[in-house]
Amino acid sequence: MGKIDPTSPVPKYFQLREILLDLIEDAELPVDAPIPSERELCQRFGLSRMTVRQAVDHLVTEGRLYRVPGKGTFVARPKIEMPLRLVSFTEDMRARGLEPGARDLDRRTTPANAHLARIFDVPPGTGVHVIERLRTADGEPMAVERSHIPVTVAPGLPDSPLSDASLYDVLETRFGIIFDAGEQTIEAGIADVADARLLDLARGSAVLLLQRRSFMNGTCVELAVSTYRADRYQLHSALEIPR
Ligand code: GLP
Repeated sequence: MGKIDPTSPVPKYFQLREILLDLIEDAELPVDAPIPSERELCQRFGLSRMTVRQAVDHLVTEGRLYRVPGKGTFVARPKIEMPLRLVSFTEDMRARGLEPGARDLDRRTTPANAHLARIFDVPPGTGVHVIERLRTADGEPMAVERSHIPVTVAPGLPDSPLSDASLYDVLETRFGIIFDAGEQTIEAGIADVADARLLDLARGSAVLLLQRRSFMNGTCVELAVSTYRADRYQLHSALEIPR
């Protein structure tokens, strides 16, 4: 196990943070295991309570640890990397060995307003299906997805059973829609009351707001406006070298 180096210019709380991170990454402190108490950490590393608390607070803020009031501090699960490829939620979860799920929240067909009409390149007033689902991984809520699909491309879509089925599979098998391009915007946000409740989050929790447009033959066929749990997802991307 690492040691605190009192001669190092690196602040002691940061050194303890690194030691705890190593223990988590080497699975010496596995997921959901309690970390040693503040008192034990103070004794083991010869640190003040304030320094230990600062290190633990940092790891809680970073989502690496979580606190259960009255019980202690535990190791959090690693976050899921947000896919930056045009994959469905179902495919993505399966690739990670998690069981994908969907709970139907609402299905309606509304006339396209000017904004949707522009996105889908249809006359305003054209019907657009809105399918709202709570997406789960191994039964845990991960995201609220609101998919918008013009009636013209998938007329009877709302009749398809979608809870626990893949929307992309239904679009492909029933309507011959195979996406060949996509674009996505991801922004930080705060969960509104309804989404916080669905996602099992405290009111005001941070979330990631996604907007995905998926295309076939140059035409936008799906606009998905989704709220993802920021405590379960992170973004990772390779960086290109500027030339
Ligand atoms: C991802 C996308 C959504 C898309 C969904 C389809 O989550 N962000 O735009 O609607 O996948 O997933 P599935 O085919 O599992 O229903």
